[in-house]
Amino acid sequence: MDIYVDSANIEEIKKAKELGLADGVTTNPSLLAKENGRVTEILKDICKEISGPVHAEVLSLDFEGIVKEGKELAKISDNIVIKIPMIKEGLKAVRILKAEGIDTNVTLIFSAGQAILAAKAGATYVCPFLGRLDDISNDGLELLGVIRSIFVNNPDLDTRIVAASIRTPIHVVELSTMGVDILTVPSKVLSQLEKHPLTDIGIEQFAKDAEKFKL
Ligand code: E4P
Repeated sequence: MDIYVDSANIEEIKKAKELGLADGVTTNPSLLAKENGRVTEILKDICKEISGPVHAEVLSLDFEGIVKEGKELAKISDNIVIKIPMIKEGLKAVRILKAEGIDTNVTLIFSAGQAILAAKAGATYVCPFLGRLDDISNDGLELLGVIRSIFVNNPDLDTRIVAASIRTPIHVVELSTMGVDILTVPSKVLSQLEKHPLTDIGIEQFAKDAEKFKL
């Protein structure tokens, strides 16, 4: 199982890397908009820090534009993966980029049918957004389970799942239990995973008791 950092912030990415929690990075336009500087420079800095895949999203929505932008982004570094929204024009672009040896991630996946189409188009990754489904009272984890079963039962579909829009530690635990390939996790959730009140109480108690003996 790989854990990616869902962030475009270099400091957050470095902190996750120190804990072995940065097998890759996913960015999107909303995450990049929170940072200062030119997108190309931000992505270059992330790629210098992270040897695993760094996912960067195209803004174009037409076939030619997506292919052009994808090729430009791919020049930034060998480990750039091109994120493409789940639209017909995007699926056409996935095929072309794949033929040129460029890895793609079809993003904004909200149904199993969309995941199948993306995999058939040759996407290296699909990116189902579970938190946004939960937001509208659908079951995001259930969708992840269905997509995983489809890929396990059809090994000819050579596409990895990047579970995205992860909002809570419970999402991380459930997805890990299911055996989802990759979880992209925001740094807030990574910090939440580390904490437990009983750990704090235990440390305090041990420190107090240690005052009673000599080393
Ligand atoms: C990552 O690839 C996705 O863009 C991201 O996880 C979306 O998260 P959000 O739904 O919390 O914005």
